[in-house]
Amino acid sequence: MSVAAKPEAPVHEPPGDGLVGQAPPSPAGPVEPQDATGLPEPPVVDLPGALQVVRFNQRQIEFVFRARRTLGEVFRTRGVVPDGPVITSHPDHTRSLFTAKPEQAPSLTGESPLRPIVGPNSVLTAIGPRHMRQRKLLLPPFHGEAVERYAEMIAGAAEREIDRWPTGTPFALAPRMQAITLDVIMAGVFGIEGRPARGTPERALRTAIRYLLAVSTWPLAQLSELMNLGRDEPVGLTRAALSILDGRTYAVIKKRRSEAGVDERRDILSLLLRAHTEEGELLTDRELRDELLTLVLAGHETTANSLAWTWERLIRTPAAYERLRDAVRSGSQADEQIEAVITEGMRSRPVIPIIGRRVTGPWRLGRYAVPAGTPVAMSILLLHHREDLYPQPFAFRPERWLDRKPGTYEWIPFGGGIRRCLGAALAMAEQRVVLEAMTRRLDLEAEDPAPERAIHRNVTMIPSRGARVIVRSRR
Ligand code: HEM
Repeated sequence: MSVAAKPEAPVHEPPGDGLVGQAPPSPAGPVEPQDATGLPEPPVVDLPGALQVVRFNQRQIEFVFRARRTLGEVFRTRGVVPDGPVITSHPDHTRSLFTAKPEQAPSLTGESPLRPIVGPNSVLTAIGPRHMRQRKLLLPPFHGEAVERYAEMIAGAAEREIDRWPTGTPFALAPRMQAITLDVIMAGVFGIEGRPARGTPERALRTAIRYLLAVSTWPLAQLSELMNLGRDEPVGLTRAALSILDGRTYAVIKKRRSEAGVDERRDILSLLLRAHTEEGELLTDRELRDELLTLVLAGHETTANSLAWTWERLIRTPAAYERLRDAVRSGSQADEQIEAVITEGMRSRPVIPIIGRRVTGPWRLGRYAVPAGTPVAMSILLLHHREDLYPQPFAFRPERWLDRKPGTYEWIPFGGGIRRCLGAALAMAEQRVVLEAMTRRLDLEAEDPAPERAIHRNVTMIPSRGARVIVRSRR
């Protein structure tokens, strides 16, 4: 007796539970110039360039959702000079950019607002062979196993911080999360655990970093940042704050170089002091400074705000919060629930909402093609809110992720390909440990049941009130 083969389901139909689906296929990637000429260029957002720049920077969410509603999943924006990027939100387009050879689609982070601060040659801002060299040097301490060793240190930082929070009085979580992530960065990157003794270069450095991070939120600093756009060296307030920080960073580097036992130390500074390039060269002090500062700036606010957003969502979704609490406090399926909550938090509120590449040849994006030299941005926010991928995309539903791994080109809060976030494993470890400790020890409520708006600071998207909460009870 023969058994009839089961007909295959159409690819774009959501699987059984209707929680995560698939997008219809859309061809994308490099094309020969003659093949590109038959395809139209993407439709352009119909507003004056200067207005688009302002709207995009201040209200990116409204801007991109409206453009997608009116123009479809690929559209072009206008800048002041030069033209703004083409924005897409299809997973096949993402795949084509993440899997392209580095020379076909170099990253746009070389043009990031962090460039005048960390210089043009750090792992974040460099492109081409220089980027690959820096990335190779920095990868080992960020591997999963290396990061596992940090779990205890992260737990210590989280428990100490939680002990200090008031009960019954509202406060903003984001700065508290930043205190934890700063401790983690200082320990992981510089090997500085807890509060170093007064008068030491380590203490002076920690103070300078805290100062720089605090100052960077002032309106004056935002202005200063605009003045710095496109430069290789900073000016104004940024320069003043940085010169203090640089002096202190060099002092810590000098001290560490002269200390015995660097070979046994596991922090990133000590690893970099020993690291050789393939040509056998050691890193210069300036290179060390650029990489260390890159890690501090890339790793601290992002992780803190990602946690703050997850809590902002969780305390407004009582059923999900209840499930997490039950799992963590009973110890049954706690790891699965924690992972699902973090994954859904990063899906619905990606702290970095958009990333980009510049295509060096004609590129197909579904029905359209764009010419060589076009900046192509992937809107993480739009991709994470596709109805076909994530039914009820605006609902916070951690249960989407139980027994399912997020797709490489569909869930991209850490970007992808050879530019994927170097600190992703560390950021996930921090989020797991902190979420677990807070869930186990505290009962939290939102100060105001209305959701917090997203505001944009530099390249990040953060909760407008810093995720304000009240601790109702603690254990
Ligand atoms: C939740 C926290 C974090 C988020 C959401 C995040 C997100 C991102 C994104 C979107 C990119 C760009 C990827 C691309 O263009 O494809 C990136 C790059 C990067 N991130 Fe993170 N990040 C986080 C935490 C960290 C941490 C903890 C560190 C290090 C301590 C770090 C270090 C870096 C570096 C060095 C790069 C540049 C990688 C390269 O260009 O090769 N990040 N991150």
